Amino acid sequence: MLLSRSMTLQIPSRKGHINERTLLRLREFRTSVIQSRYRRNTDVPFSEVAPHRSEINAASAQFTCDQARNFLTIDVRKKKYPYLESDVMSFRLQPAAPARPNRCQLFGPASNTKLFAKMAASDADVINIDLEDSVAPSDKEIARANAIEAINSIDWGKKTLSVRINSLDTPYWYRDVVDLLEQAGERLDQIMIPKVGCAEDIYAVDALVTAIEAAKGRKKRIAFEVIIESAAGIAHVEAIAAASPRLEAMSLGAADFAASMGMQTTGIGGTQENYYMLHEGQKHWSDPWHWAQAAIVAACRTHGVLPVDGPFGDFSDDEGYIAQAKRSATLGMVGKWAIHPKQIALANEVFTPSDEAVNEAREILAAMDKAKANGEGATVYKGRLVDIASIKQAEVIVAQAELIAAG
Ligand code: COA
Ligand code: MG
Repeated sequence: MLLSRSMTLQIPSRKGHINERTLLRLREFRTSVIQSRYRRNTDVPFSEVAPHRSEINAASAQFTCDQARNFLTIDVRKKKYPYLESDVMSFRLQPAAPARPNRCQLFGPASNTKLFAKMAASDADVINIDLEDSVAPSDKEIARANAIEAINSIDWGKKTLSVRINSLDTPYWYRDVVDLLEQAGERLDQIMIPKVGCAEDIYAVDALVTAIEAAKGRKKRIAFEVIIESAAGIAHVEAIAAASPRLEAMSLGAADFAASMGMQTTGIGGTQENYYMLHEGQKHWSDPWHWAQAAIVAACRTHGVLPVDGPFGDFSDDEGYIAQAKRSATLGMVGKWAIHPKQIALANEVFTPSDEAVNEAREILAAMDKAKANGEGATVYKGRLVDIASIKQAEVIVAQAELIAAG
């Protein structure tokens, strides 16, 4: 195959039959087009092709770049979804996120043993025992031992039990993983990996966890949750969301994120005084966390991971916490951290669909059932349009409510 400057692709073919070797060349071709686009940072249209000039003696066929691209897309898609009939349909299944309540994740430092029983007795759905930034370097070893002792001895009920390990840029993390996986019992559900910057961070932890699970004969597969809290983390968020089948949840860590991004703030989440629009002399505050949250939600929903909002530092500001949590819920996040027990009820309130919302969702489903029976795809509910998309929206709310009721 020759790849000229003008992006001509020449492929030998016998009576139009595309064999494995040709397929391989098509793949190479696609890679080289992508690489050249990256290198030169220009947008060479796939359809831009030079006249055919065969340099191969055997019968040859020329594919335009567009044909090559379509061919590859179709080939890959058909392998994945062999039942697809159409060659031109764009189609990808959205995997479901883990079915577990995750409205509130309560944190507590593993160095503070008196908190464990209170955490276990709380109404948080998820417990995050922390070995990372709420534990001083001098306490790392004792904190690790405390966490293992607490996992093994306390009744954690039906909560998801998670330990936040130290980040991969520290000397502590490998020992966190080894000791937890070797010494904590099967009650441990999950480990949380902070400051994830790329998919390979998860791969590294996955390799270690997988080896220890096999060596120790652990029966339950440990799940992962990660924190996106750096520029690299948000830049690679989609690859991170796809990095391991162990990955169940992903949070935005506002404080470290702000630091890594060079944001001018020392607040942990919430409204930022200087982030406003000015309109006719009036200030209107915007949400500087919005884009990162939306990127996390999109990556998570693409790969079947639960998107979660992280900490809100000012635990004396209930209204501020509620406002932040409501924005996160509106964007598709399923829950929020609590760094103090008084934030638990606030998170549970915001992330539990209200009876009113559930009733309305059920009514929309009933209205659509009726419309369908009449052969209609859309109808009117309380003076507004509802259609097939409304069924999906309503189902999200009903499914959430049922999950929480069952939990
Ligand atoms: N989990 C469970 N109970 C907690 C708790 C937590 N995270 N934090 C405080 N409590 C308890 C206290 O022990 C106290 O109990 P008591 O009434 O039986 O004495 C009660 O809640 C009120 O606590 P308060 O005095 O208001 O707070 P504090 O000064 O003891 O602790 C913090 C404040 C912020 C240091 C503490 O809440 C904390 O360590 N939070 C978690 C920090 C963390 O894990 N950060 C990492 C993620 S960002
Ligand atoms: Mg952090």
